[in-house]
Amino acid sequence: MCGIIGFSGNKRAPARLLMEGLKRLEYRGYDSAGIAWQLRAKLRVRKRAGKVDELWDELPEEVMLRAGIAHTRWATHGSPSDANAHPHTDGPERIALVHNGVIDNFRSLKADLEKRGHVFRSETDTEVLAHLISEHCNGSLEEAVRTALRLVEGTYGIAVMSADEPGKIVATRRGSPLIVGVGDEGSFVASDAVAMAGRADEVVNLEDGDLAVLIGDEHRILRLAGGENHQAIWSALDLPPTVADKQGYPHYMLKEIMEQPDALEDCFRGRIQRDSGTAKLGGLQMEPRDFLQIDRVRLLGCGTSYMSSCVGARMITDLARIETTAEYAPEYRYSNPIVDRNMLFFGVSQSGETADTIMAMREVQRKGGRVMGIVNRVASTIARETGAGIYIHAGFEYAVASTKTMLNTMMALLLFALLVGRMRDLSLARGRELIEEVEQLPEKIRQLLVLRGDFREAARHFADSHNFYFMGRGYSFPIAMEGALKLKEIAYVHAEGYSAAEMKHGPIALIDESFASVFVIPPDSVFSRTFTNLQEVRARKGPVLSITCGDQRTEELADYSDQVIVLPETDEILTPFLTTVAVQLFAYEFAELRGCPIDQPKNLAKSVTVE
Ligand code: AGP
Repeated sequence: MCGIIGFSGNKRAPARLLMEGLKRLEYRGYDSAGIAWQLRAKLRVRKRAGKVDELWDELPEEVMLRAGIAHTRWATHGSPSDANAHPHTDGPERIALVHNGVIDNFRSLKADLEKRGHVFRSETDTEVLAHLISEHCNGSLEEAVRTALRLVEGTYGIAVMSADEPGKIVATRRGSPLIVGVGDEGSFVASDAVAMAGRADEVVNLEDGDLAVLIGDEHRILRLAGGENHQAIWSALDLPPTVADKQGYPHYMLKEIMEQPDALEDCFRGRIQRDSGTAKLGGLQMEPRDFLQIDRVRLLGCGTSYMSSCVGARMITDLARIETTAEYAPEYRYSNPIVDRNMLFFGVSQSGETADTIMAMREVQRKGGRVMGIVNRVASTIARETGAGIYIHAGFEYAVASTKTMLNTMMALLLFALLVGRMRDLSLARGRELIEEVEQLPEKIRQLLVLRGDFREAARHFADSHNFYFMGRGYSFPIAMEGALKLKEIAYVHAEGYSAAEMKHGPIALIDESFASVFVIPPDSVFSRTFTNLQEVRARKGPVLSITCGDQRTEELADYSDQVIVLPETDEILTPFLTTVAVQLFAYEFAELRGCPIDQPKNLAKSVTVE
């Protein structure tokens, strides 16, 4: 999952235009960065390990370019080094290329090219593409790309330039996202439309096998296999240029944590029907009778999208009485899944570009399964490949660590559970009761966010702990897993999420005064059992942070906890919307205390578009 951007201008333009776009793609990877541009009949390349800003600082002030390509990397093959940074060139530096994806057969291709005298300067799979295109470059660049890619196995989103064809950029994709945009200054190609926000007026999402040829604002969308793509659908780009802006917060993550009340309202606004105690989800494109035949639901996701799916699976099972499970997408894909006409599948992904999730969905589709998407990014690959589903309307999420998109994904799944539940046994009274509680959630989250100081105090209290268990039962078990993921992701602290019931089956062996536990323990139907587990930890001198809702049980908890943080109260099914924010804040304050690069944690990227 790297970020690539290309620009071909109607006239020469400052390199800043490319670098600003590249900066907005840093959420996709930031191990190294590079830029190539055409200058007279030559290509210039600057690239280095480190972030975009460091590269930018190195560029000569006056770089003006007619066409250029740039790249920010998340390393797959080869360490984050200057030599492995993109763009890559062929030997004579007549071809320059940036790539997002994984070339599966690069070793055999590289060996063949070395036999023909090609000398490689990096460990990457990508460099092979530059040499391969150069090897076949005896006509137009697009023909060389077509010929070369016939030999390639794997995934790619590439942008290529040739010193022999000034101003031309050729771009094509298989499995990695690419968007072409056109504006007054010329044409763009990028991994994400956010890179061209404020500069492109119209965009088109390339599909696998599309090939774009850009020269200034002239653009052709062809097919890699030959011919034109007459189906390319252009649309207005509706992203404001200031989409990447911290608005005074120290980190995007904190900004996005604080946005959650408003973002959650954006998700359910216009979708709840108080009188009939149900929800309205037009994007599903299913008639009520279509739901009656559904007797199993599968939610496929990764990372935080998997955690929100675990919560959603409980909600759908509870409210709609449909057997529903959450599945780790890559595991499900290779499990030879059972698929039949009475099943409904959702790909759950904020980016809509996670390769593991997409490939699992395609496996289900190959078996004839009905697959929809629950995504944040409009026109993302999952949204386009399913054509139906639920947009979570969380707004752009810049921080690598997912926060508001988790709450909104859970809300989308709750609305689905309400809709289908009310077609079945869920009573009108219960439907209305849940809707009333849902409408109070944003305010309750605002009240929770005021408790930030309690989480900072907890982070200080546990600052010397190097290992954590996060524990919960029922609706709190997925939140325990999410809390552990967040602490690992942004504070680099080892943490594991468990069902509290599991403690006695092994994990408790590690508990002592150095091994802290965070209990997500609202006063719900499993409180007494979870409380017993908490006492078992305490009996072995384990430090404990308890996170609960309401103050009915705080005295009991206080007797067995180093600290108790009390969130507002809500319905058991809705506690995840509050406890999730709590574990986000704990992880954030912990990471802040440790001075971690919270928005761009090491080794991570926001959208994992490689398997
Ligand atoms: C969560 O904080 C991480 N950013 C990561 O686990 C993420 O949830 C996962 O990669 C799935 O991303 P998606 O929702 O875009 O599919």
